[in-house]
Amino acid sequence: MSDFKREQRKNEHVEIAMAQTDATISDFDEIRFVHHSIPSIDVSDINLESSLKDFTLSQPLYINAMTGGSEWTKQINEKLAMIARESGMAMAVGSTHAALRNSKMASSFTIVRETNPNGIIFSNVGADVPVDKAVESVHLLDAQALQVHVNAPQELVMPEGNRIFSTWMDNLAQIVARVDVPVIIKEVGFGMSKETIKQLHEIGIRYVDVSGRGGTNFVDIENERRSYKDMDYLSLWGQTTVESLLESTSYQRDMDILASGGVRSPLDVIKCLALGASAVGMSRPFLNQVENYGITETLNYTEQFTEHMKKIMTMLDARSPKDLKNAQMIFGPKLQSWIDQRNIDIF
Ligand SMILES: Cc1cc2nc3c(=O)[nH]c(=O)nc-3n(C[C@H](O)[C@H](O)[C@H](O)COP(=O)(O)O)c2cc1C
Repeated sequence: MSDFKREQRKNEHVEIAMAQTDATISDFDEIRFVHHSIPSIDVSDINLESSLKDFTLSQPLYINAMTGGSEWTKQINEKLAMIARESGMAMAVGSTHAALRNSKMASSFTIVRETNPNGIIFSNVGADVPVDKAVESVHLLDAQALQVHVNAPQELVMPEGNRIFSTWMDNLAQIVARVDVPVIIKEVGFGMSKETIKQLHEIGIRYVDVSGRGGTNFVDIENERRSYKDMDYLSLWGQTTVESLLESTSYQRDMDILASGGVRSPLDVIKCLALGASAVGMSRPFLNQVENYGITETLNYTEQFTEHMKKIMTMLDARSPKDLKNAQMIFGPKLQSWIDQRNIDIF
């Protein structure tokens, strides 16, 4: 596949993603917090700092992987990096494969480090990347962590996608053994099962981003790119973010579980943290904000978003994101059925 075609594909992903809308009802609505009337803390008592095993985030919300690899997405990366710098959020770049193949493309990613020299940046590669290239991807950005995306459904619906997956697990084991920053195995909107998380734990992985169903949908995006648009029946494939977090429960002590996929409101973030996530990523909302409304508006949106998170935490008597794990939740019947059928022990 030529570099031009790859560049074109990234732009198509961004264009189609921006036109997507979220389902009106999400799994986050299946969770309710028990309200208690008299908080024992003030909004000013809240500290959003989140400590992960290897680094501390000034707040749990981060900008998740999307862009780089084309002229247009270089500009988007620069804008997102400004938002990350000004707000103190961590930020992941999109897959760096384009830069690893052709150094002319490197600046569409390195712009993120140039714009935000002191920020926390995650680099990103796919599960089939040669180990040396994974190391190179970290150096490219002087990244604090490396996301490795696992995206089998996307590849299979993508007309020109990968058809070889049996090498992934061995390759992931080699990557985690060689790369000297934390490796985050990340889905792209199809969620994770406890079986997958167990396999990853066994090869030494200590970070996953479950990135579940409910937001950006890569079956729909790739189907849109197919001549006959004939794979729409797979649209609901995968676990939602809430289901995936429930699946992760017994690994939360040993691993940092990151959440993303369809997170849209401050209340969604709080629910992810209450379900045990160490940090929470959003992609499409930041893309749409920055492309449709610009940097100042996006910064304002981000500031409001975190202020709202603090208000919800006050109602839940949680001074820190970790305290949210004590919040009392009631699950709707659909979620309870998932918990029962999957034998998940949530307490
Ligand atoms: C335009 C676009 C491009 C993306 N590219 C990547 C990528 O290169 N690597 C990756 O790991 N995830 C990629 N993702 C997936 C996101 O990181 C995230 O897992 C997914 O979009 C779900 O989050 P959301 O519902 O908040 O958008 C992309 C998402 C979007 C919207």
